[in-house]
Amino acid sequence: MHNTRDSFGSKFGAIAALAGSAVGLGNIWKFPYEAGNNGGGAFLLVYIFFTVAIGLPVMLSEFALGRYSGRNAFGTFDRLEPKTVWRYFGVLVLLAATMILSFYGTVAGWTLEYVFKSFTFSFHVGTDVDLNTMFSDFITNPYKPVFWQIVFMALTGFIVLAGVKKGIERYTKLMMPLLFVLILILGIRACTLDGAMEGIKFFFLPKFSELTSQGVLSALGQAFFSLSIGMGVLLTYASYIKKDENLTSISLQVICADTLIAVLAGIAIFPAVFAFNIAPDSGPGLVFLTLPQVFQSMAFGQLWAILFFLLLTMAALTSSISLLEVIVAFFVEEKHISRRKATVISTVIVTIFGILCTLSFGPLKEVHIGNLSVFGIFDYVSSNILLPVGGILISIYMGWRFDRRLLEAELTNNGELKLWLLKPLIFVLKYVAPLFILVILLHSLGLF
Ligand code: PFF
Repeated sequence: MHNTRDSFGSKFGAIAALAGSAVGLGNIWKFPYEAGNNGGGAFLLVYIFFTVAIGLPVMLSEFALGRYSGRNAFGTFDRLEPKTVWRYFGVLVLLAATMILSFYGTVAGWTLEYVFKSFTFSFHVGTDVDLNTMFSDFITNPYKPVFWQIVFMALTGFIVLAGVKKGIERYTKLMMPLLFVLILILGIRACTLDGAMEGIKFFFLPKFSELTSQGVLSALGQAFFSLSIGMGVLLTYASYIKKDENLTSISLQVICADTLIAVLAGIAIFPAVFAFNIAPDSGPGLVFLTLPQVFQSMAFGQLWAILFFLLLTMAALTSSISLLEVIVAFFVEEKHISRRKATVISTVIVTIFGILCTLSFGPLKEVHIGNLSVFGIFDYVSSNILLPVGGILISIYMGWRFDRRLLEAELTNNGELKLWLLKPLIFVLKYVAPLFILVILLHSLGLF
């Protein structure tokens, strides 16, 4: 069974796929407005600190576990812990992947509509549409956002169906460099606008007085979401990495790529926002409401709009395939059904849940659980509860329960490589990561 298992064909392929999972809406849609709301450079510094001090160790341990087991996330715990409660970790992961992908598909569908709008001149120089009305008309429409969500999920399914090497690796190897070039072009363009310096200053100058404890916690939550940690995604992808690749070097490269793209997104967005006198802390609407306004008033605005929304769609796609793969790999390896069937089943299930999320802005607006909409529930439960719980469990499992010699063997390729930081790594996994993540968890539950 192990010999016939698909794997990444090259180190670059593995990095492209993993960085593809990490780089997504979290980097381009969420990171800039979080930084904007929480003291600019101060948020950036704290974010980088958490990424290195906690993100890296947890990522490394997920890599080691996945490659060691050579199985999907559910199967890994099912084999290693058949008789303990750890077995249920796999269920948590499947639930989390389904929930994240459902609401992720909603926002990704919006980005597709905006690609379409950019192509069809819906907002270009001289048009006088009210962007707020345009956005709210669209997301409350009962058909259009559902249509785009289905298109997005079909694209996701299409890539995953083709397999790890011929699907995921092939397309991420193509999309990631393209995405990098696009965001670089957008960043350079933004920096050459009149008044761009204000935006750069706003983004990089640390304003510690504006960074609240809430902001610090958001930075840690954002680091986890952005690195795709605690969801079984990294574990599943790592099971496709060849035994002679250096996991430490791969994780460092993935972390650098993820952080670099988040910073470049800030560089592409803030100068433009300042050059056109828009409030930089305008929240989640920054991308769908504010930027179209910027494109509307820029020379060649339509071109920049097309490039930007294409970029956002591609970033979302390389993340969504990683989430779908977690579910598909479970069906293929644990339920022994063909990849084709598994992909169709998983895509259909997630799309159905996703449509409920999408409709919760329109026809299902009245449906509330507590005071959250369906979209709100999916986002809240997966990002604020399942993801931190997953992070804590993975850290505790690898720090306390997993055989340390096996962890070391996996990270050093059986002693061939040098590992300089095993002790601090274990320390972080045992104490620091669970404690810090527990604090964010309690905080987001309103208990702290
Ligand atoms: N890391 C992705 C982003 O920043 O948009 C989102 C994501 C993908 C989160 C995969 C979790 C995950 F398992």
